Amino acid sequence: MKPLIAGSLLALLATQAQAATIAMEDQSQIPTPSASAHAEYFKPPAESELPDNAYGKLVRDGYALFVDTKRLAPQFVGNGLNCSNCHLDQGRLANSAPLWGAYPMYPAYRKKNDKVNTFAERLQGCFQFSMNGGQPPAADSREITALSVYAYWLASKAPLGVELPGRGYPEVAQPAKGYDLKQGAVVYQAQCSVCHGPQGQGQKVGADYVMPPLWGKDSYNWGAGMHRINTAASFIKHNMPLGKGGSLSDQQAWDVAAYVNSHERPQDPRLVEGSIEKTRIKFHANDGVNLYGQTVDGVLIGQGIR
Ligand code: HEC
Ligand code: HEC
Repeated sequence: MKPLIAGSLLALLATQAQAATIAMEDQSQIPTPSASAHAEYFKPPAESELPDNAYGKLVRDGYALFVDTKRLAPQFVGNGLNCSNCHLDQGRLANSAPLWGAYPMYPAYRKKNDKVNTFAERLQGCFQFSMNGGQPPAADSREITALSVYAYWLASKAPLGVELPGRGYPEVAQPAKGYDLKQGAVVYQAQCSVCHGPQGQGQKVGADYVMPPLWGKDSYNWGAGMHRINTAASFIKHNMPLGKGGSLSDQQAWDVAAYVNSHERPQDPRLVEGSIEKTRIKFHANDGVNLYGQTVDGVLIGQGIR
């Protein structure tokens, strides 16, 4: 990390780290404009509406696991992330793959594993890839049950099987010129590194991340949805820089998504016979736009981190 010389930059960093600490303690204060409060989006219930019984308690357990995953389920988390790092505002924010948009859409067919996935299996997938967690919690485990009940509660009164506006990370089409890794580096250093670090390493206070890493050993692995440049571009366009979602052009979002996803991260746990090329053909060749198994500037991407 380069030494920070400008005092104003240091001050900015301090405010941002402070904001992130607040966000960890009280997610309602997160500095993101709450798209879910917007009239056109589904409105999930408020915490004050929770009943004071076993159901309310299970919902709260699920909420806690969602925002504090690494601490509460360490045996299932192999990196430095929490679910809410990618599903912002406690899984409530529209265009940030909100849980209320997801829950009513399962069971669903998924190309990724070519079968019908239950909601529990979808959660297990995020543990395995986004959280780099190894063997995910069992479908009937305490963790999957609590997270499912939390999602069910957020989706209260939502129609079943109807794709709601704000579900997922709405697709940002690839610009006609494609993407440019060098321009992505420029966007990154100007707009992202202040929080995520010049080497994408995030920022820690003690053992805990207050700013999540974007690459390296504590990031999502090569099998995660976010490794696709198109998916990361969509997430970034709608949600980053934090608090300024929608401010990047589509081109900037694609460039910086490609730059982030050209960096090493933990290996795809589906690695076929130890071969990056076989894994690329089987799992990455038809999985959106991604750099896994390709050579950029003479370096093979997808080697993973041990
Ligand atoms: C590194 C970012 C990241 C993390 C961390 C993460 N997810 Fe996801 N999640 C994604 C992406 C990307 C998708 C796919 C969205 C899409 O395809 O539009 C997704 C999809 C989902 C979906 C399905 C959404 C839908 O509308 O069908 C659910 C449910 C979900 N995640 C839950 C979780 C849970 C629970 C955790 C924590 C155990 C978690 N996620 C952690 C990135 C992440
Ligand atoms: C003001 C600080 C800040 C800035 C600037 C910022 N981010 Fe983030 N970013 C965050 C925080 C905090 C989270 C986690 C949000 C949460 O937990 O609620 C996050 C989450 C993410 C994630 C998903 C989680 C992960 O670690 O993979 C990605 C990807 C991401 N940011 C990319 C970017 C990119 C690209 C830029 C620049 C265009 C950027 N961010 C700018 C603070 C920031």
